[in-house]
Amino acid sequence: MPLVDGKSLLLEAQRKHKAIPAFNVENMEFVQGVVSAAEKMEYPVIIQTTPSTVRYASVEYFAAIVKCAAEKSTARIALHLDHGDSLQLAADAMAAGYTSVMIDGSKLPFAENMELTKSVTKKAAGYGVSVEAELGTVGGKEDSASCSQILYTDAEEAAEFVEKTGVDSLAVAIGTAHGFYKGEPKLNLKRLEEIRNKVEIPLVLHGTSGVPYETVQKCIELGICKVNYATDLRKAFTEAVKANFSAEGVDPKKYLGAGRQAVEAAAVERIRICRLG
Ligand code: 13P
Repeated sequence: MPLVDGKSLLLEAQRKHKAIPAFNVENMEFVQGVVSAAEKMEYPVIIQTTPSTVRYASVEYFAAIVKCAAEKSTARIALHLDHGDSLQLAADAMAAGYTSVMIDGSKLPFAENMELTKSVTKKAAGYGVSVEAELGTVGGKEDSASCSQILYTDAEEAAEFVEKTGVDSLAVAIGTAHGFYKGEPKLNLKRLEEIRNKVEIPLVLHGTSGVPYETVQKCIELGICKVNYATDLRKAFTEAVKANFSAEGVDPKKYLGAGRQAVEAAAVERIRICRLG
């Protein structure tokens, strides 16, 4: 079926007290693996790409691949720009057919983050595209942006930000980090509850790879409606490709096909977490 919009998926998940997994993809095999997992699990998913991924190819390439995969499938799929870093990139993604965009002004002062976000919500209204923003800082490294310090989202600021920008979902900083964790991540669930009590729109969890399943489900109970996974899928794909790569073989379908299967298996497991069984 055609791509669906991100906002309606998240509002539906919120009503059902579940979450939609959002998977970062890097190539056609990732897209096929994720869509196949969504079909098998009969559960909607968000497919997303970071700025470095779309700079490697382009938003048009990824939109074409994901639209093709969605149209051949019975699964409901939204296409989202993850960590959009400018109004221009968000606008390019909307023009290419993305049905949801994130504008990440979280490293900017509060007022500047608000202004940048407002410029994107204004543009998105014309396209009927939903907008995610971020307040506070998620640690670790995603793309070229890295952050060594985690600043928890402030609940009062979150309420003001949402009201003044008109965003559809908000990524919150509660102790997660992008990439691999060194020890077990310590999440501030009390802060999540405080934010939930002040903010009605769907909340988003970044940096979920490596967070124990029970903790993710606790976050979903406390109002997280979109759960982002990147590193787990990249690891699954890369390990499968390495394991199936031979010095003599010259058929990329062999090792890329193994990568695709590994992505599908990783996505199935994470859909189960977000679907709560
Ligand atoms: P992980 O790489 O930790 O899964 O984080 C993904 C993410 O939040 C993408 O925005």
